[in-house]
Amino acid sequence: MEFEVKFLPEGKKISVQDSSTVLTAALKADVDLVALCGGRGTCGKCLVEVVKGSTPPPTEQEVRKIGRERIAKGIRLACQLKVLDHLIINVPDKSRIGRQKLVIMGVEPTAKVSPNIKKLYFEINPPSLEDPRGDDVRINEVLSHLGMSNFSLDYTIIKEMPKILRESGWKVTFTIINNREIINIQPGDKTKDCYGVAVDIGTTKLAVFIVDLISGKILFADGIMNPQIKYGEDVISRIQYASQSEENLKELQRSIIAGINELIERGLMETDVRREDLYEVVVVGNTAMHHLFLGLNVKWLGLAPYSPVIGMSYNIKAKELGININPSGNVYTLPNIAGFVGADAIADVLASRIHEKEKITLLMDVGTNTEVILGNKRGLWCCSTASGPAFEGAHVRYGMRAASGAIEKVKIREDFEVEYITINDEKPRGICGSGIIDAIAEMLRTGIIDTSGRIILKNHRRVREGGFGKEFILVFKEETATGEEDIVITQEDIREIQKAKAAIYAGYMTLMKKGGLKKEEISEIIIAGAFGSYIDPLSAKIIGIIPDLPTSRISFLGNTAGSGARLCLKSIDYRKEAEEIVKKMKYVELAVERIFEEEYINAMFMPNSRLEDFPEVMSIIKSPINVRRYVKR
Ligand code: FES
Repeated sequence: MEFEVKFLPEGKKISVQDSSTVLTAALKADVDLVALCGGRGTCGKCLVEVVKGSTPPPTEQEVRKIGRERIAKGIRLACQLKVLDHLIINVPDKSRIGRQKLVIMGVEPTAKVSPNIKKLYFEINPPSLEDPRGDDVRINEVLSHLGMSNFSLDYTIIKEMPKILRESGWKVTFTIINNREIINIQPGDKTKDCYGVAVDIGTTKLAVFIVDLISGKILFADGIMNPQIKYGEDVISRIQYASQSEENLKELQRSIIAGINELIERGLMETDVRREDLYEVVVVGNTAMHHLFLGLNVKWLGLAPYSPVIGMSYNIKAKELGININPSGNVYTLPNIAGFVGADAIADVLASRIHEKEKITLLMDVGTNTEVILGNKRGLWCCSTASGPAFEGAHVRYGMRAASGAIEKVKIREDFEVEYITINDEKPRGICGSGIIDAIAEMLRTGIIDTSGRIILKNHRRVREGGFGKEFILVFKEETATGEEDIVITQEDIREIQKAKAAIYAGYMTLMKKGGLKKEEISEIIIAGAFGSYIDPLSAKIIGIIPDLPTSRISFLGNTAGSGARLCLKSIDYRKEAEEIVKKMKYVELAVERIFEEEYINAMFMPNSRLEDFPEVMSIIKSPINVRRYVKR
């Protein structure tokens, strides 16, 4: 039996089988609805309001995440609510993915432009009764003078070639890829029209750049949320979804390719570039994003020994993947390493040049999955740590993405009153990653919480007992955009941030210990990724995300994965370098590392249970110390 679900306020309708969830209906109807945990009922973000229709009793997760009082008012979790009647559902603003402030640019190393694509103009002798050889033989003759014999012709070109040659008076431009295949033939001199696309598929965001392959200039850069986010915020949720069926895997592949095509389309509209002249796409992403883009089975990425299906670089025809550039164009994917450390980590290294540095450098590409790379020109250690989406606002009661109205900066005064800044100066709707880090660092500095993260401030109008323990009121409801609820930081929120930061810190410490290195030996810390572009380094040090080293030794390079993809697009030399980097990188699987476990427990304290490692932070914070040293060192 089928029921109709209508979504407000847009009025989209969809029919679904009974017992499907409202989330499934929203996905089918293409309704913008956040499902950060992929429908497991754990993030509590897919809140909807039942306007009409009878509903089954709430699940345990709903009671836990929403509370019976709000359930009685019709508030439910879309992923838990089964459709057993025709329903009218309102999707509130806060449950929408929405447009967020995306940082997609990164450092731009100067690079000699030497792409995989060449455009050459020729004037070819036409056939005659004395010389009636075939068109392809004539082309071969011209190319062999340039040392390019044995070229191949794309089948589409074979069909178009005779007409173009004759109509142009045998004056044509060839587009040649890999020095051996002709993928386009155009009348006249079109050697200046040569463009490519660099793509960085992050777990959370997708960035696309259109690059002029003659001048090397970026003509277009834009990003959107990774459209796969509606199937789950983190890598594990998406692996689980994709592993359920062949159709789910295809759905995830279709969704990322549609996202890339959407951005290419925008790029074509905003520039003078024609689709026909986009010849190559270079793609980077962690192994899961890379595999889902190629439609490869990701099941084994989630199971020990966590090996990727492919580790080498590949060239695939754009038309086979459905990427809307020149149909004979090429898609190049960089190599992967192991576990979740993929092509994006290699791009990070390429762009930051840490593989050439004499001194030890620590690079952290902070995201839902954080890649950590440590070393210098003699070798690099790497790992991937599941920092989770808490820094993106997930799993935090009033957390939201970096969109309009998100609190992005927080200062707490000595009297515990709060000053804050929101994105676009709008009334606060929630708090984004940088705001959460600031807020918790400030709560620690001013003594509202102790080093174990416990809220210890008493008898103040901003501290109260909430449904799930103590909470600190950041913004009173009268000041918020909705005017309905106070924006609070709960004890559970603090725990979520502690888990996220502990994963990153423990990842880095594991590599340090594996490499036999000490904190003092690190000459530079590079924070890559959008996260690094907006966090306050002091707040990050106070809560112990990064080591307590002078701020002058910390640099923020932005989206280095995107930068590395552009380098490989602009020059094939970087592709060769990428192959060399792979050989230098030693992968550490954290799931089996005892050091990681121990360091994780240490790092659950703020800044850490090893207070002596954080001298600057300890001189700033006023919080009482509450560290139980139960980890044997
Ligand atoms: Fe529904 Fe997370 S609780 S998607």
